[in-house]
Amino acid sequence: MKRTVVFGFALLMAAAVFLGCGGKDAGGQAEDSKGLIGVVMPTRSEERWNKDGNAVKEGLEKLGYTVDLQFSDDDIPTQLNQIDNMITNGVKALVIASIDGSSLGTQLENARAAGIPVISYDRLLMQSPNVDYYVSFDNYKVGRQMGQILVNGLNLDNPAKRPINLELFAGSPDDNNSVGFYQGAIDVLQPYMDSGVVAVPSGQIDRTVIGTLRWDAAEAQKRMENLLSRYYSGNVVLDGILSPYDPISLSCLEACKAVGYGSTPGKPLPVAGGQDCIVASVKSIVQGEQYATVLKDTRSLGAATVELVDKIMKGETISGLDTTSYPNGASVNGSPYIVPSLLLDSVIVTQDNVQKDVIDTGYHSREELGL
Ligand code: BGC
Repeated sequence: MKRTVVFGFALLMAAAVFLGCGGKDAGGQAEDSKGLIGVVMPTRSEERWNKDGNAVKEGLEKLGYTVDLQFSDDDIPTQLNQIDNMITNGVKALVIASIDGSSLGTQLENARAAGIPVISYDRLLMQSPNVDYYVSFDNYKVGRQMGQILVNGLNLDNPAKRPINLELFAGSPDDNNSVGFYQGAIDVLQPYMDSGVVAVPSGQIDRTVIGTLRWDAAEAQKRMENLLSRYYSGNVVLDGILSPYDPISLSCLEACKAVGYGSTPGKPLPVAGGQDCIVASVKSIVQGEQYATVLKDTRSLGAATVELVDKIMKGETISGLDTTSYPNGASVNGSPYIVPSLLLDSVIVTQDNVQKDVIDTGYHSREELGL
């Protein structure tokens, strides 16, 4: 009898292991998991989204959640599929950094119907009331910092010549962040354009004309090449570039170098800002090529998101929300829907503070920067 019981128990254990029940349920979660959270990032091909995705995943896992982290290859149908699958798999919350902020209406509606809270990560989800929170940086302020970089780097308050020639680049038109970045930068630069200190020889100033679909640096490089060959001949020299994104800054500087900037007397490399503080740009800043970038610490954004998800899961009150800045184009009961937002601070990085704000904080190590 005893032997039969032991044998029966052993059989049961073997079956459990065979069926994959050894501490996991059908969704691949440990039995003691606090729940499955879906995290979707736009692409793996950019440095920042890898950092963002990993920071959110690791933070949530530390708190006991199981995380399904997906990258969408900058392909909208892929992203929609990933979210559909997450909803089917019973995620408890969704964290989404969109590709096209307006493309997810159906998925967001399904999430709401299934009682799944949605956090819009870094990029605002547009045209839907089914977005619970937005966690990002103060994107208008980031834009002002992009403009301020040119004011400082070109000494626009006391210019060495008139006019100082700028060309302007904006981010992807389907990313709402591009609006804040552009508006902030233009608000800083407009007075200098009005007073004649700054000129834009191409005349291309409108955001719809200077946008870069999917933040594609190769497309921006082509546009820079065209601008240089069409508008910069004789003694018209390009002095500065408004850039919303480090890879765009680097490719524009390449286009300038190809026509003699940085190697011809009277044609220094233009002053270019950027955004994201990627390794290649910090190296370029240290070498004196790219002038500056804006650091948006993905670790802080990840940590704020993890804390928010955990509070939502525990049913705790969320404080410190901005409830005026981010209408997303949807309306609720006839009023514009404003997405409650947590907005973090960003920092301008030049040669002067690489050590203090990038290396000492551990954002990039000296080894990564080749120093
Ligand atoms: C982000 C930037 C990033 C850009 C391109 C924007 O939405 O805010 O940090 O550089 O997308 O990925």
